[in-house]
Amino acid sequence: MASTHLLNHFSREQLFDLLINQLEGFIVSDAQGRYVFVSQRWTDLIGLSLSDVKGLYVHDVTPDTRVDQVLRDGKSRSGELVTVHNNRGEELHLLCSYTPLFHEGEIIGCFTVASLQGMDEFMGFSAKTDELFHKLNYYHKELAEIQGAKYSIANIIGSSPGIYALKTAIHQAARSASTVIIQGETGSGKELVAHAIHALSPRAAQPFIKINCAAIPSELLESELFGYASGAFTGASRHGKKGKFQLADRGTLFLDEINQLPLQLQPKLLRVLQEREVEPVGGVETIPVDCRIIAASNVPLDRLVRSGQFRDDLFYRLNVVSMEVPPLRERKEDIPAIADYLLERLNTQLGMAVPGISGQVKDRLKEYDWPGNVRELQNVIERAMNAAWMDTLTWRHFEGYFQRKSLRPDQHSGTGAATIRQAKEQAERQAVIQALHTSCGNRTAAAAALGITRAMLYRKLQKYGLEGYGI
Ligand SMILES: Nc1ncnc2c1ncn2[C@@H]1O[C@H](COP(=O)(O)OP(=O)(O)OP(=O)(O)O)[C@@H](O)[C@H]1O
Ligand SMILES: [Mg+2]
Repeated sequence: MASTHLLNHFSREQLFDLLINQLEGFIVSDAQGRYVFVSQRWTDLIGLSLSDVKGLYVHDVTPDTRVDQVLRDGKSRSGELVTVHNNRGEELHLLCSYTPLFHEGEIIGCFTVASLQGMDEFMGFSAKTDELFHKLNYYHKELAEIQGAKYSIANIIGSSPGIYALKTAIHQAARSASTVIIQGETGSGKELVAHAIHALSPRAAQPFIKINCAAIPSELLESELFGYASGAFTGASRHGKKGKFQLADRGTLFLDEINQLPLQLQPKLLRVLQEREVEPVGGVETIPVDCRIIAASNVPLDRLVRSGQFRDDLFYRLNVVSMEVPPLRERKEDIPAIADYLLERLNTQLGMAVPGISGQVKDRLKEYDWPGNVRELQNVIERAMNAAWMDTLTWRHFEGYFQRKSLRPDQHSGTGAATIRQAKEQAERQAVIQALHTSCGNRTAAAAALGITRAMLYRKLQKYGLEGYGI
């Protein structure tokens, strides 16, 4: 009871003192921003007493202070994060509120309340928001990369007649919104071409959405492409989900490895191409979509049509504008320029500083047939860069790769007298290479052609040092 009444007996001065002393930091400065008063707790915190600082400018002790701004514009500020150093050199983070002091309409000073309280939480919170902000930035960039075209026509290197014709076709295709089918061996640059068409087209500012028909399990592919309606199946999101067609609305949809689109989905794709509307899985209504379709295949689609693996009506729908990316072995004159370009790009991506590639290497790289095309060339250069570290790439950095891959049988027959076992192994190695070549590096197809399991194929690849072949 006594304590409740005690305050009533305090004089104004006692009450004022009590308040000031409870506040962590209490500072009064004059109209010029010089200390007039500091509280005892501020002195304890900073290690400077009133007599130490009286008459000094606040900003000389606390460069981070907002006092000068408040004196200039007469506006109070609160929740400002201010960093100060105490007399032991320790850094303190204070949360400060500033109030201008007026007398007869004139600013005569500023009064500051500084608090350490809650700063740990505040600093933790601020570190957390910084981190989130950082992440958000990163995802923004990623999203822009995913949605936008990563590459433009300038990234297609080469001056061979094949590349020249391809670039002309890209420019022509970019003018319209017609469906394009890009065919070419694995790693030859089909995706690059798709990006370039989009980037040159009037849709460039709209999304570029990619879906790889081979990478998504067939049972998920339908909803990935067309989306699903709310409550379409157990576990489906309550709000449904947009399919890639909708995400690509007004932009471009890139259907990669279209040759792997399961037969049962082919009529559905055909319907979308004809009607220009999608029917989400489990939904009743159709949604109109306006997207340009670019499809890619590393197997000639007409061959699949003939063997009944691809519907002819869908093929005709896709085959409006057709482009063929020539394999690297048919444009070997481009190898030196592509190699230089890839080296530069890898230097940036890997944070390396490999100065260049020797002329001898560039000549010898032309001797090889590159079944994995530009992607294989890129892998070989990256390998060599790791071996060379900071040196110019010379042939010795490449030798290992080509030795392991020496594909001509005579190089493996040794001095002539092969045992039956050696001869068998050699024939087996050749059969594996042939199968990989025919399947354009596709392991599943190669294993099927050889009549062995994928696991068995991997063992053979390891045994014959062919793991990287055609990838
Ligand atoms: N003409 C070129 N100039 C520069 N880089 C190229 C060129 N062609 C391809 N590349 C690069 O080679 C790599 C493989 O290209 P891309 O992914 O476009 O091939 P792809 O034909 O789609 O292969 P896959 O059939 O395996 O999907 C990429 O890193 C690409 O940037
Ligand atoms: Mg591709």
